[in-house]
Amino acid sequence: MVALDTIRASNAALKGKLPAGLVALFVGGTSGIGEHTMRVFYETAPSPRVYFMGRSQSSADRIIESLKPLNPDGHLEFIQTDASLLKNVDEASRKFSEKEKELNLLVMSQGFLTLEGRVETTEGIDTKLALNYFSRARFIQNLLPALTAAASNSNNPIGARVISVLSAGHEGPINFSDFELKKTFSLRNAGVHAVTSNSALSKYLAQEHQNISFTHSYPGGVETNILTASRLPSVLTMASKVILPLFRSFMKTPEESGQRHFYVVTNEKFKTGGWLVDSESEESAASKKAVEKGWCNEEVGETVWKRSLEIFDKVQREGKA
Ligand SMILES: NC(=O)c1ccc[n+]([C@@H]2O[C@H](COP(=O)([O-])OP(=O)(O)OC[C@H]3O[C@@H](n4cnc5c(N)ncnc54)[C@H](OP(=O)(O)O)[C@@H]3O)[C@@H](O)[C@H]2O)c1
Repeated sequence: MVALDTIRASNAALKGKLPAGLVALFVGGTSGIGEHTMRVFYETAPSPRVYFMGRSQSSADRIIESLKPLNPDGHLEFIQTDASLLKNVDEASRKFSEKEKELNLLVMSQGFLTLEGRVETTEGIDTKLALNYFSRARFIQNLLPALTAAASNSNNPIGARVISVLSAGHEGPINFSDFELKKTFSLRNAGVHAVTSNSALSKYLAQEHQNISFTHSYPGGVETNILTASRLPSVLTMASKVILPLFRSFMKTPEESGQRHFYVVTNEKFKTGGWLVDSESEESAASKKAVEKGWCNEEVGETVWKRSLEIFDKVQREGKA
């Protein structure tokens, strides 16, 4: 476990050491872990160029108003998008790419909680899988040229890094005969497919792009808006308001999680390679076992990537997976 004090000290020590003009994109930056990681980045980096995405314009306005004065030389811009649709991911990526040729940091934390079964988007992908995995893979595909450009110009402690915040350590076997879970959907299967795809992809893409870092993290329990913002039955949302305070001492604040994620994406140890990181900012022991079991190694990642690209092509050609 990396102690929070160590993390804060490491993060604070970066002030004045990062070069001016680093570029970062936070998908899911309008709330929770994404927002708080973005806050640390924006306050720490000199003249940062920061873009963030989500659906909520009002949250974006609140964040811009509170963050801008903390670093008046920074550029902070909201790109509104519903990332559950691949066509929106493409449009949002295009808007970003029109403005920036290099990308140092891509942080993806878009998601919600649900107990609902399979709910397909108009593109025929389950909404949970779309946000937790497919949109993330598509952002990476679209932004690889900008990440590669930043990596080859990486005279800075960050280089080029991608981090997907979901649930490293909770992998399982992927059923490739029903990769999109059209026939065998359950919440458990959806969790395993999204989590394992993120882990396997981090391993595979790191092998293919050796100067870029790919990380999948598990934040642990973090007291964000995820319960209130989610599609849970109202009785559960109400119950959570009573139960959550009892667990508060076991949960991290969004501020701590932001510090921990900023640490991971700036620490020298994680500068290149494929990393599966736990809630204490260490390599996940559970993920290590999952890799050893063959659930999420580079080979699985290659299949995940190929299958994902086939789905992206189909959606682009036919409008539906
Ligand atoms: N918090 C925890 O305890 C915990 C534990 C384990 C794993 N996680 C995972 O960590 C990630 C981040 O969680 P969090 O706690 O930071 O959640 P959060 O505070 O609810 O933030 C979720 C973010 O996702 C964005 N989002 C949701 N649906 C979207 C859509 N259709 N299109 C674009 N953006 C969308 C939200 O923005 P808009 O509302 O503006 O669209 C928001 O910025 C999630 O994947 C979650 O499953 C969280």
